[in-house]
Amino acid sequence: MPSDRDHLIHRDFSLMAQARHQLYDEPLVLARGSMEYLYDTDGNEYLDCFSGIMVTSCGHANPEINARIKAQVDLLLHTSTFYLTEPLLDLVARLEEITPAGLSRSFLVNSGSEAVDGAILLAREHTGNEVVVSLQLGYHGRTLLTEACTNVSGADDIPFGPDDLGVAVGCNAYCYRCPLGLEYPGCGVGCADSIDTELDAAGIDRVAAIVVEPIQGVGGVIVSPPGHLESLERIAHARDGVLIIDEVQSGFGRTGTMFVSEQYDISPDILVMGKAMANGVPAAAYVARDDIGEAIQRPTFSTYGGNPLASAAALATIDYIIDNDLPARAARAGQRFEAGLADLAGGTDLIGEIRGRGLFLGVELVRDPATKEPAGDQGLRLVQQCRERGLIVGKSGPHGNVIRIGPALTISDSQIDRALEVLDASLRTVEIAS
Ligand SMILES: Cc1ncc(COP(=O)(O)O)c(C=O)c1O
Repeated sequence: MPSDRDHLIHRDFSLMAQARHQLYDEPLVLARGSMEYLYDTDGNEYLDCFSGIMVTSCGHANPEINARIKAQVDLLLHTSTFYLTEPLLDLVARLEEITPAGLSRSFLVNSGSEAVDGAILLAREHTGNEVVVSLQLGYHGRTLLTEACTNVSGADDIPFGPDDLGVAVGCNAYCYRCPLGLEYPGCGVGCADSIDTELDAAGIDRVAAIVVEPIQGVGGVIVSPPGHLESLERIAHARDGVLIIDEVQSGFGRTGTMFVSEQYDISPDILVMGKAMANGVPAAAYVARDDIGEAIQRPTFSTYGGNPLASAAALATIDYIIDNDLPARAARAGQRFEAGLADLAGGTDLIGEIRGRGLFLGVELVRDPATKEPAGDQGLRLVQQCRERGLIVGKSGPHGNVIRIGPALTISDSQIDRALEVLDASLRTVEIAS
């Protein structure tokens, strides 16, 4: 007779809408975590190279961070933003320090979706324009508006599509599979210019914003090449709009700098962050230039946004990232991981491309390097094989053929080598079965 819990795990998840989409055929039920490792309810250990989708960048149950979270629980849990608290004030000051120059006005919320949604609303109020441009294969969340900006499975799949909500979808910079059939750098980032052309053709002179992830995470770890974000910034400004940089996935040291946008020659008008911000406690924010933030003068309110617990967790996380030099460690560890993956690619035709920055890495699997036919089934099997060998990795891309790797930024060299060994063995098993 199965227990109630077994019954719930093996039914169709209709009672858990959020958990309907599982990574494995046989769901993995987790019990606890400790820094780079997770443990299931049977006590099996997994080296976690996905970090709860790029969230626990400082490790699971990080003792230093958790001590400060626990202290805050005993001190003050909730007040609402009708009142100020020390953690809220300190966090706002800290965000101004760690974000690129010129960004100073913070709006604290609870999730990445809410933050992107708020950033777009702010852009619309500031500019008086409606149209927002998002990119093919972009992922910005699951509120009504951010879902309209999300184009991972093709805009046609969205019930209330981009058009209804003032969203225009532009060409992305997927150089491995250029949507325009061009080649970088000779193309001069023609994908960005094509957005200009399309907007002209649609008679749209003015936009509220272009919203873009410098690295499209869910879309398949697609990295904006040098010059891409710079062109989008120019186009947004030329049409009286602002540039919203969505760093919900790439922020907080993962790519080798606190924010990956620092690696480009741009000045984001609004920077959106979430996920790793509080190492697993829900917290997100959008930080705007002062003159843009000023656009919202009417009362704006969030019951939980910037609550003392989330703010204390975010402060502890940011301190830990800086005190332990995690961006530099991510850059070094990323080089080792990427070099190891390149070695693996030398021994198989299944790997089409390895890309990423720091410890935000993607491995695109193809059936044939010449045709680049996406190897979605193999991606699924590889993720499964890794699990069986005690390694957790993610997958992404519209065909599920891009293995997403994002371990804790504290990962050691020997743990990276272990992950590579498992990936190697798993690749071989998948290849034999193909
Ligand atoms: C780039 C990006 N923006 C926004 C979101 C939405 O964040 P959340 O799931 O916290 O609402 C995500 C989530 O994966 C994301 O990757």
